[in-house]
Amino acid sequence: MEKQPHSSAQTGSSPLDILILAAGLGTRMRSNTAKVLHRLGGRPLVAHVCRTASALQRDERPVHVVVGHQAEEVERAVREEVGERGAVFVTQTEQRGTGDAVYAARDRLAAADSTLLVLSGDVPLVRAETLGALIHQHRTHRGRGAACTLLAVRLEDPTGYGRVVRDAEGRFERIVEQKDATPEERQISEINAGIYCFETRLLFDALSRVRPENAQGEFYLTDVPGILRADGEDVSVFVHNDAREVSGINTRAELADFERILRGRTLRSLMLNSGVTVIDPQHTYVSADAQIGRDTILSPGVHVEGRTVIGEECFVGPGTRITDSRIGNGVRVKDHCVIVDSVIEDNCEVGPFAHLRMGARVEEGAAVGNYVEVKKSRLGRRTKAMHLSYLGDADIGERTNIGAGTVTCNYDGKQKHRTSIGDDVKIGSDTMLVAPVEVGSRSVTGAGSVVTEDVPPDTLVAGVPAKIKKRLSSEEPKAQENEGTSRES
Ligand code: UD1
Ligand code: CA
Repeated sequence: MEKQPHSSAQTGSSPLDILILAAGLGTRMRSNTAKVLHRLGGRPLVAHVCRTASALQRDERPVHVVVGHQAEEVERAVREEVGERGAVFVTQTEQRGTGDAVYAARDRLAAADSTLLVLSGDVPLVRAETLGALIHQHRTHRGRGAACTLLAVRLEDPTGYGRVVRDAEGRFERIVEQKDATPEERQISEINAGIYCFETRLLFDALSRVRPENAQGEFYLTDVPGILRADGEDVSVFVHNDAREVSGINTRAELADFERILRGRTLRSLMLNSGVTVIDPQHTYVSADAQIGRDTILSPGVHVEGRTVIGEECFVGPGTRITDSRIGNGVRVKDHCVIVDSVIEDNCEVGPFAHLRMGARVEEGAAVGNYVEVKKSRLGRRTKAMHLSYLGDADIGERTNIGAGTVTCNYDGKQKHRTSIGDDVKIGSDTMLVAPVEVGSRSVTGAGSVVTEDVPPDTLVAGVPAKIKKRLSSEEPKAQENEGTSRES
């Protein structure tokens, strides 16, 4: 009796649905945070799986995600990765096993004439190519497609995993979980990776017959392939050769192992493909989403996080952290800087010990020196703030010099106010700029000034509160070299 083809893959019309299981807590993590929210390479585990899944979904069907523990946070992590329309969420109210998790999606999926790829939220390194090969084998099995294809690997130590039981002819028979396996079955080294393709309708039909009659009292998804086999359906096994790629994370020790692997991959690619010098790869941490240009040098202890972009021929000094920022070409960031959500244009110098955050913008050729904090502020081209300053909510023009110890007093206890400083200004050391306040172009403030009122262009002010001393001719500001009227050397 010849079977009907299971999928219309050969005609190219069978749609693919994807279901990601992410409702479990992950007891072995010993954490209050759901396992799939733990971070690998700076991104939640579930985000890694979602990215891979959406790479497979060419026809823009959303991926389905089963959520339960910390559902809201998991949903947020997924949306951040695939966008509002990239995912549909299904809630599993009580975590009664992987079979129950899939069953939670029955209203959405059971009637679909599709192939369903089931993934686990805790298997972050699986590659789209591998899943593509799994799907291909599923759809072409014996020329008509299988009812189910499961991904298996051989492990030297299979402890803890579900084992693939085969009959005397080597055909798939069923999966047995570690806790339900006989001593002989525990000798089997071929394990179920928890990644499957199913013909969707056959899956849900079989799922309704799964019973929690096992050591854990759970509804096992792993019972389904055996049920389908007993029904006389074709179940095929896709044996993969890279166990590491498809293994799940169950403990924090495994999480750390994966972190090391992912980090190694990223750094190798930066060195071999992008031409980046990494002085000490053992102690350099670069997100897989970062981009770094040719001949840039990363010192030991550097962290480059999120979607940071660093240009060519930059130097990043020891102990610096750069997060979600954009750095131009030829930039020198010296030791121990923290740069978050900021932009540094070409040929700037930053640090040591500088802190740039919340949309700081340092324009071409500008310099931010020791112990300077820049928040939500722009420093125009070739402007310098070299020592011990706080510049918050400020807009500073070009070629201006900010003397040591300058503070924009931007907060009156209730609200933040802006400071605006023009071009070619000399702010004397220890000037307090009490915002909202404006200092016109080419003006000068004396050391220790407390500026409470706007300063017109071409004007010298000094004192507490600062008073106008005189109008300056256009040459006069040049007499006050570099650090304004400061006394420091
Ligand atoms: C599962 C398989 C096992 C396989 C292993 C591979 C079952 C019964 N066992 O075991 O054969 O070798 O994966 O890694 O499927 N989840 C839910 N709701 C639940 C339970 C789990 O959403 O009620 C999710 C978890 O969040 C996780 C995934 O399903 O993402 C796998 O669950 P987990 O408990 O890690 O299964 P394993 O014990 O690893
Ligand atoms: Ca697992």
